[in-house]
Amino acid sequence: MASSQTDLSSRERALDALRAVPSVQLAHYPTPIEELARLRAALGGGPRLLVKRDDAISFGCGGNKVRKLELVAAQALADGADTLITTGGGQSNHARATAAAAAKLGLKCVLVLNGTRPATPTGNALLDVLFGAELHYVERREDRAPAMREIASRLQAQGRRPVEIPLGASTPLGALGLARAVGELVTARTVPEFIVHATSSGGTQAGLVAGCILHGLPTRVLGISADTPSAEMQGIVTALLGGMADRLGIDREQLAGAREIEVDDGLVGDGYGIPTAGSREASDLLARTEALLVDQTYTAKALAGLIAHVRGGRFKDSDTVMFWHTGGQVAVFA
Ligand SMILES: Cc1ncc(COP(=O)(O)O)c(C=O)c1O
Repeated sequence: MASSQTDLSSRERALDALRAVPSVQLAHYPTPIEELARLRAALGGGPRLLVKRDDAISFGCGGNKVRKLELVAAQALADGADTLITTGGGQSNHARATAAAAAKLGLKCVLVLNGTRPATPTGNALLDVLFGAELHYVERREDRAPAMREIASRLQAQGRRPVEIPLGASTPLGALGLARAVGELVTARTVPEFIVHATSSGGTQAGLVAGCILHGLPTRVLGISADTPSAEMQGIVTALLGGMADRLGIDREQLAGAREIEVDDGLVGDGYGIPTAGSREASDLLARTEALLVDQTYTAKALAGLIAHVRGGRFKDSDTVMFWHTGGQVAVFA
């Protein structure tokens, strides 16, 4: 058989495997794809701009983490879990989405957050409390994983069945949720030349890249880093792609190494969660032209990256550039 035919049939088998991965449905899909015509005009023209509204995911205030948790929570339920434990920063979107998923699925949720316990919780921290999660605070980022392990062993000793979900639910299984999401572009017959999105723990980028490969889309996926240097991010995404291939039963090279992993770490500024002039401009522009909200840690920096690349001439006027809005808007109220 010609090798392109072999590739096609193994891609089709992998797509079937992707669709067959068990998941719990927390939200309704597809999320909308909208034109950003007023933003484009405010930028003086350039490529066609679209937004994929994962900020509008209809569960737990939305965001990319819901797509990952639908698969990760299904696995936890299959494993007989009664408690979800996860971790993040004090305003973690992932922690809030996990708390929401646990509430909906009748599970207990324990969150290990770094920072100090706020006297009056706001934004995501407020929602963590409303969704009924138990919050533990540790001082530093590096204290989080050991604290999760310690809590898990304590709960196990009490006869409970906890499952630890790694940072950002960025496991190969979680990332498959984003690979599935790319199918929504195929159904909508909207195939952009570029997807631009915020990247941090890597699952979203790995999922979108894998989704484009599996669905046969030529779309280039550009991750704008919230904190991690590009080379490190590329390594994280490549490792996740390998793990995803294993899960789908295809050769690792079909996902890992098949496409260049493009990460721009030039928008971080003074660090994780610290706004820049560009991220402030991006959030103001998007709010005033499109009435859409972004957060300063992830999505405002990603949009600032998109704007910088429009202004820098990276895209052709004939290109369609999709801003994959990964959520985070709850942090506006922090
Ligand atoms: C709003 C938002 N966008 C993007 C990201 C990055 O996604 P990922 O961790 O999958 O790289 C995160 C979480 O880290 C997030 O909360």
